[in-house]
Amino acid sequence: MVRLLNVKMMTQLIHKQGIEAIFADIMAQLKKDFTNWESFQNIPRPAFHVDGGVLELMPVCGKEKFAFKCVNGHPKNTAVGKQTVVATGQLLNVDDGYPILITEMTLLTALRTASVSAIASDLMARKDASTLAVIGNGAQSEYQTIAHKLIRDIKEIRYFDTDPKAMDKYEQNMKLNFAGHKVDLVRCNDAKSAVTGADIIIVCTACKAHAEVIKYDWLTKGQHINGLGGDCPGKTELQKEILENSYVAVEFFDQSFIEGEIQVFDEEKARSIVDAHFYEIIRGDKVGRNNDDEITVFDSVGIALEDLSALSVIHTLSEKYNIGEIYEMIPDIKDPKNLFSLLVE
Ligand SMILES: NC(=O)c1ccc[n+]([C@@H]2O[C@H](COP(=O)([O-])OP(=O)(O)OC[C@H]3O[C@@H](n4cnc5c(N)ncnc54)[C@H](O)[C@@H]3O)[C@@H](O)[C@H]2O)c1
Repeated sequence: MVRLLNVKMMTQLIHKQGIEAIFADIMAQLKKDFTNWESFQNIPRPAFHVDGGVLELMPVCGKEKFAFKCVNGHPKNTAVGKQTVVATGQLLNVDDGYPILITEMTLLTALRTASVSAIASDLMARKDASTLAVIGNGAQSEYQTIAHKLIRDIKEIRYFDTDPKAMDKYEQNMKLNFAGHKVDLVRCNDAKSAVTGADIIIVCTACKAHAEVIKYDWLTKGQHINGLGGDCPGKTELQKEILENSYVAVEFFDQSFIEGEIQVFDEEKARSIVDAHFYEIIRGDKVGRNNDDEITVFDSVGIALEDLSALSVIHTLSEKYNIGEIYEMIPDIKDPKNLFSLLVE
């Protein structure tokens, strides 16, 4: 029997557990799974590039669970009222190959991406970081912001988007979410003014181009950047001088070199630019930053292991709260060799 979660059910589950508690659950599972990095078979995701977008399959196999997500990235979509990123996914038992969960993953991707980003900031940003800049105020932005409130005492949030309507939406959502909290929301006229003076900078824009959303000479000592939107060949957000002059971490070099900010370098240079893998920092094998003056960058592309962690948490919670519909997706037959019996009256 397989549990199915649609968008409404995922929303119910998030409300039931509470978004902050879900972030905490996913962050804990991510840390556990990344600590056990070698027990997962990770491969760079296969991607099919089409006009104006990309369609990707993200599989990963652990000792107990196999997972995959089907996800797109179509920056042009919002112009016609569709989302840039939508996803669905499955969790299966490794032991017998049977699926146990089929679910919407658009919401879940936002939750997992924000959880990953918050862990990176927790381990790489200065301990006294209190000002957050959010560049790109689309679908991911509120999730990123709320997750960051859990890892630092954020007092000021500076935000910018090239689309003023996205900024209005972000402002409204964040005012509602942080009502009663002492958080200053600062609307900025451009990316430079949002970045100036921020301790943690989240860049989550969508544009299939080598954009320079953030420039090196805007930065000051000790800042930390989470670059999320550079996640596909031909799609980057940071001026390359930033990477050349920062402490850089990636999730998985083999995929990051194809899709991340480091794709702008040849392989030898990219390897020299990368200082640490995310799992090495999580394990404590490498530091997240060497000192308070260094600029640090988490060049995130999003990898399948992160989806497996999030799916595992959601599966447990959906059973706990009995949310989801149980469907017979696998034939229920007494003789496993007699599949034809289903067609015989
Ligand atoms: N690394 C990961 O794991 C991960 C996961 C999910 C999404 N993403 C990526 O994050 C990005 C954001 O995703 P989303 O779902 O929020 O997309 P979205 O389309 O909802 O929002 C993107 C926003 O960026 C704005 N924008 C575009 N260019 C800009 C610029 N130069 N300066 C400021 N704002 C700009 C757009 O107006 C839009 O509001 C996408 O590129 C997506 O592929 C990465």
